[in-house]
Amino acid sequence: MLPSFARVAAPPDPILGLAEAFRNDPRPNKVNLSAGVFVDETGKTPLLATVIEAERRLAEGAATKLYRPIDGELAYRELVRELVLGKDHEAVVSGRALATQTPGGTGGLRVAADLLRQTGASETLWMSEPTWPNHPAMFQAAGFRVRTYPYTDPAGRRIDEEPMLAALGQASPGDIVLLHGACHNPTGVDPSPQLWRRIGDLVEERRLLPLVDLAYQGFGDGLREDAAGLMELVRPGAELLVSTSFSKTFSLYSERVGAMLLIARSAADASAAQSHVKAAIRVNYSNPPAHGADIVRTILGDAELRPRWEVELAGMRSRIKGNRRAVVAALEARRVPGDWSGIATQRGMFALLGLSTHQVAQLRDGHGVYVVGKGRINVAGFTSANLDPFADALAAVVAAGG
Ligand SMILES: Cc1ncc(COP(=O)(O)O)c(C=O)c1O
Repeated sequence: MLPSFARVAAPPDPILGLAEAFRNDPRPNKVNLSAGVFVDETGKTPLLATVIEAERRLAEGAATKLYRPIDGELAYRELVRELVLGKDHEAVVSGRALATQTPGGTGGLRVAADLLRQTGASETLWMSEPTWPNHPAMFQAAGFRVRTYPYTDPAGRRIDEEPMLAALGQASPGDIVLLHGACHNPTGVDPSPQLWRRIGDLVEERRLLPLVDLAYQGFGDGLREDAAGLMELVRPGAELLVSTSFSKTFSLYSERVGAMLLIARSAADASAAQSHVKAAIRVNYSNPPAHGADIVRTILGDAELRPRWEVELAGMRSRIKGNRRAVVAALEARRVPGDWSGIATQRGMFALLGLSTHQVAQLRDGHGVYVVGKGRINVAGFTSANLDPFADALAAVVAAGG
């Protein structure tokens, strides 16, 4: 017999629930800015040309569907480690950094969480307020006690550095600190190089364990640029975990491909910790799906495909940056009250409009514009067809107040 709790429907996922409501909305000029996926000017999530070519090559060479190693193929693991940390980084050369293939970035975070819980880490994990809504749910489900540190000002425009560092200063040695490596979701506001250095100092002084969620490497300013904050934490002897995702940067959402990197004090420590990573995976999904990782490995390891992919990635990045400038121009042209200029210089797909729950409901019910929470928008979602209707709707809702 199922437990009685299972007979009561779970609350809908805050973001996926909106996607369903959008699908069911009959209005022809509805605008969906709620989903966290990249779309092109036609509103479609593209299949990259390098992915198509990699799949063609893979289909020609296909030989077996045998299980893969628990932590993924070595070639993939090494390529990903170099992509994240850089080929010549001391942690790579020394072997104290090891990568594990995971089912997307969500899988990477869960593997990191299980590794920590199963090896006796602190049960307290600190995350930014606000953060990606799946973060608290996921880490609570994995057995952590979640605490938050303040991040941006209420409008979501700039980081409140001192309150953030003061809160983290209360963390106990061994506590986990979840940080967004680049393209913070939902604010789009990333720490400055100086703040990353201060976070690195604090982590070192208080002997905290950073867990860096790097789901958008390459969507901000570039592949190396977006890893610069992370590199500030990978100091000699420093220990940390990183979760990365290729859902967005290779547009491989449904293939569930990502990785978890562990960086230990020494190669011997890393290899011991890796055995616990494998034990955690074995009792979860046993071993990873192959296809997405094969695509990423084929592209990253090929002298012709890799630069072509980097051009495709740069194209997605520049579309996002162009949309950021365009939305600010559209709001300023309508003289929508508020300072929107920060949206133009933020990073990644997201920005916060800083709206009330009532205004968000007004946008949806009155204008067919779907945004998340207190007004998180996916900037990639703007097209020449929907930008003006969006700006008109926002102007009307802000003018109405409330
Ligand atoms: C901050 C953050 N982390 C992790 C993920 C998970 O990505 P994936 O789809 O690869 O599991 C996302 C996806 O939206 C995200 O925004």
